Amino acid sequence: MGGIMNRDFIVIGNWKMHKTAREAADYVERLSPLVQGTRSRVFLSVPYTSIAEAASAAKSSAIVVGAQNMNEAREGAFTGEVSAIMLKEAGARFVLLGHSERRYLFDESDEVIHRKMIRALQDDLLPVLCIGETAEQRAKGKTEEVLQDQLMKALEGVSDRDLGRLMIAYEPVWAIGSGNASTPQLTQESHSFCRKWIEKFFGKQVSQTIPLLYGGSVKALNVKEIATQKDVDGVLVGEASLDPEAFSAIIQNCEGI
Ligand code: PGA
Repeated sequence: MGGIMNRDFIVIGNWKMHKTAREAADYVERLSPLVQGTRSRVFLSVPYTSIAEAASAAKSSAIVVGAQNMNEAREGAFTGEVSAIMLKEAGARFVLLGHSERRYLFDESDEVIHRKMIRALQDDLLPVLCIGETAEQRAKGKTEEVLQDQLMKALEGVSDRDLGRLMIAYEPVWAIGSGNASTPQLTQESHSFCRKWIEKFFGKQVSQTIPLLYGGSVKALNVKEIATQKDVDGVLVGEASLDPEAFSAIIQNCEGI
């Protein structure tokens, strides 16, 4: 088991732009019996239009449904955008913020991610902050600098109380969707760096309780070696979460670690 003692392992599925509302409900109905009684905490990050159906299908299970993005404002003239309070009412309990696809395909800056983080906390949606370096940044030896910068900018001004209500996902951009996860050793190195950075700025208590997840080509075959790293408290799974059987195999493989 990862770094947080006496806490259950966290497994988040990120569907990205996959599954209609009907497909989402069907998926949750198939996943629920497969993960019944699991010790892991199971989260699904689904498209906006599937939140209500997925949350309703998940009602009698322990599966927690959330969103993949939100707008930083509470409400206003922002055509096409969706706010935290709308997501909450639809049934979302958490939201991914700063996923690398948002950062690089949709030009989201650290400042925007920070404002979204503050808004999510204010409106009682649990943020999952995603950070991670590109292949180029790693090749230039800048991994720690990038992680530190992304953490600092996103978490600036967040109170100690709120730091207890968020998760951090380390997702090296070069591992996402590549089929090849980072090595357990490199993952542990980055997680350990993040935990030490958090301890330095926010204290030991926060650093020991904040969940640090790994994401990037996690599958049933490699999850055990990732999950057993000291500072890994959970995983964020993209492609391998799209099929309920494949996703539940990942969850089963984390049992009893
Ligand atoms: P992947 O995606 O598991 O398909 O690499 C992970 C993510 O982008 O969160």
